[in-house]
Amino acid sequence: DSRGLILGIESSCDETSAAVVARGRDQLSNVVASQIATHARYGGVVPELASREHLLNIVPVIRASLADAGVAFADLDAIAVTEGPGLAGALLVGITYAKALAFALGKPLIAVNHLEGHIHAVLLEQAALDEAATPLPALALVVSGGHTHLYLTQQRGDSWHYSNVGRTVDDAAGEAFDKVAKLLGLGYPGGPWIDFLAAHGDPRAVPFSFAQIKSKPHRDNSARSGPASQYLFSFSGIKTAVLRYTQTHSLEASIQARQQALASMSNPRPQDALALCDEETLGLIASFQRAVVDDLRRKTFRAAEELGAASVLVSGGVAANRELRVRFTAEAADHGIPIAFPSLALSTDNAAMIAAAAWPKFLARDFAAEDLSAQASLTL
Ligand code: KG4
Ligand code: ZN
Repeated sequence: DSRGLILGIESSCDETSAAVVARGRDQLSNVVASQIATHARYGGVVPELASREHLLNIVPVIRASLADAGVAFADLDAIAVTEGPGLAGALLVGITYAKALAFALGKPLIAVNHLEGHIHAVLLEQAALDEAATPLPALALVVSGGHTHLYLTQQRGDSWHYSNVGRTVDDAAGEAFDKVAKLLGLGYPGGPWIDFLAAHGDPRAVPFSFAQIKSKPHRDNSARSGPASQYLFSFSGIKTAVLRYTQTHSLEASIQARQQALASMSNPRPQDALALCDEETLGLIASFQRAVVDDLRRKTFRAAEELGAASVLVSGGVAANRELRVRFTAEAADHGIPIAFPSLALSTDNAAMIAAAAWPKFLARDFAAEDLSAQASLTL
């Protein structure tokens, strides 16, 4: 008579989150405490501050997730927690709490890979709608501030299998959004700023190109078996190209003025930056976004076609991008291949996706050992 209730806990980066999900598909709650305000003035996540905020937030966030779901600790069937990848100190807060809770309650503890969580963010909501809408094998693009990976995803019985078929050789796509926003004097994290401003610029204003990247052994790929990655991304070059454009077009003074104007506001939002950007800057922003989205789109659909994927799943913070959704959706229609995205709330980091990814492991009794610890560079 168990309800299949899993408490998910996520603390790998700058959001503290807890969620209760029933049988991997019914979200009873999903509470996210964002630290954006803390890190914004540094233009990036400061690991020590992240750990401290997680410590302050973890108990109230977990209490709120239980209250929202209307369940008590005793009702839970298992505790699931992000094991990695992420910031070691940040991960440890969630892991330590989860271990203590599981031990105190006498419930099983389940370790979840954050990247697997992002993929299950899509599957969780799709299953609630119509499982047949995302036939397998699926090609999953996980595209966030820390990751740009392609996985051929399949299910055998209750267990899920992921084959890593593509990755970035340098920066993640979200990292490029964040760095370009920063160098243009915009706010943090940069994705939502660029997303908003790009809609007001001409995407053909500045021609950016992506060189074909040759497969070469990569440090974090060398120890791994599996396929040599064929679908490679690189996003550090375009960031440098944007920087060079601002120099050759003498945009420095206007960037500095914009940065100071936004810094003087109490809670600046992307809309506030519009009046601070001229047409040339908006064109640069729109062209940057178009180039990144097109590169992600081309390689993702080439991989889907060549590897025989039956559907495409896109998740991670950059999956919130409006132009990405529009262009991927159009391309999917051209290819006659179903595509699915998480809702905006489940695109960025959250614990519902961790609880959902834990459900097949719960069924398989794939529980974590007592010495579970943070795996900062865990791969999937
Ligand atoms: O998945 P996520 O919350 O955290 C990581 O696991 O990294 O992703 C955060 C990233 C940031 O780089 C942020 O700029 C980007 O997702 N992002 C976006 C948008 N919203 C968030 N990028 C482009 N367009 C957006 N609308
Ligand atoms: Zn993430």
